[in-house]
Amino acid sequence: MSGPNTNFDPVEVAALDPEAVDAAVSSALEAIAAAASLDELKALRPAHAGDKSPLALANREIGALPPSAKAEAGKRVGQARGRVNQAFAARQGELEAERDERILTEEAVDVTLPTGRRPLGRRHPIELMSTRIADLFVGMGWEIAEGPEIEAEWFNFDALNFDADHPARQMQDTFYVDPPEGGLVLRTHTSPVQARTLLERGVPVYVAAIGRVFRTDELDATHMPAFHQVEGLAVDEGITMAHLKGTLDRLASELFGDGITTRLRPSYFPFTEPSAEMDLRCFVCRGKDPDCRTCKGTGWIEWGGCGMVNRNVLTACGVDADRYTGFAFGMGIDRALMFRTGVSDMRDMIEGDVRFDAMFGMEI
Ligand code: DAH
Repeated sequence: MSGPNTNFDPVEVAALDPEAVDAAVSSALEAIAAAASLDELKALRPAHAGDKSPLALANREIGALPPSAKAEAGKRVGQARGRVNQAFAARQGELEAERDERILTEEAVDVTLPTGRRPLGRRHPIELMSTRIADLFVGMGWEIAEGPEIEAEWFNFDALNFDADHPARQMQDTFYVDPPEGGLVLRTHTSPVQARTLLERGVPVYVAAIGRVFRTDELDATHMPAFHQVEGLAVDEGITMAHLKGTLDRLASELFGDGITTRLRPSYFPFTEPSAEMDLRCFVCRGKDPDCRTCKGTGWIEWGGCGMVNRNVLTACGVDADRYTGFAFGMGIDRALMFRTGVSDMRDMIEGDVRFDAMFGMEI
């Protein structure tokens, strides 16, 4: 009669042999220690801790042992598996720590490095000031008018009462478009828009024209061959020079602040009579420093020309000069920007350096 195999000798089961168990443990520990990455470690698991690993197989053999041998064999295999599992866990921890460390170094962000961010473009300060001036006039009920930059000599000079031999017509002031006898010039001022407006819109009329004008000046700190003007023209019944002064004062305070003082100084332009220069009180010395470099000690800075529209201009443009009167003015926008910003070299304004635009191309 067969009974439980009480005499079963566990040593005889090869898998449970202490040496075999130890060998399984050392081969596992060796492999675990040699695993250089988490992936490698993971790949070792089936062979050393999986269902078919030597220790798992040994564990399975325990069930077949006689009860007296089970405890001892169970302890041996259990401890062996425990050591292997612990070694796995420990190595896993080490490798994870290494990986985290590596990620921290590899992905570290040096917040002090210069960025590759490209700066945004800005509106040019001249453009911005032009818009602001246009807004002011539109706000007063005026219209905005435009004229071509390549202009008929007739509009640029003749309609504005310039004599045929007026010095401004000379080649040294005016860019003539080839062929010279073609009668086209790059407009030397925005005043031709006055004549165009009177012919096109009739009277009464209140318009501002803002745009680029050209003269054969060498580029230096205070001259540019292309610059900008704002032209104003108001023709109606009963317009007087007081209206002109009021309008220019409004424009000046809009651009330079309420405290600005202005003055009109007698002058001459063929298309206005009487004519005046409009001066601004010197921003720097306010008229108190005879050695001031900004106003050269005069206390005043010239800003532009103005006057009552010459009746010859009104007549040339078909307006009844006995019934209507008008005023006109032309101010330099680039000069206004210089006054406003304190920039003393006009070349800075046209170099196209975005840092200039970023500094002055915004409203405060
Ligand atoms: N067109 C003149 C210039 O460029 C400025 C000017 C003077 C414009 C008197 C006017 C004016 O409208 O009335 O020098």
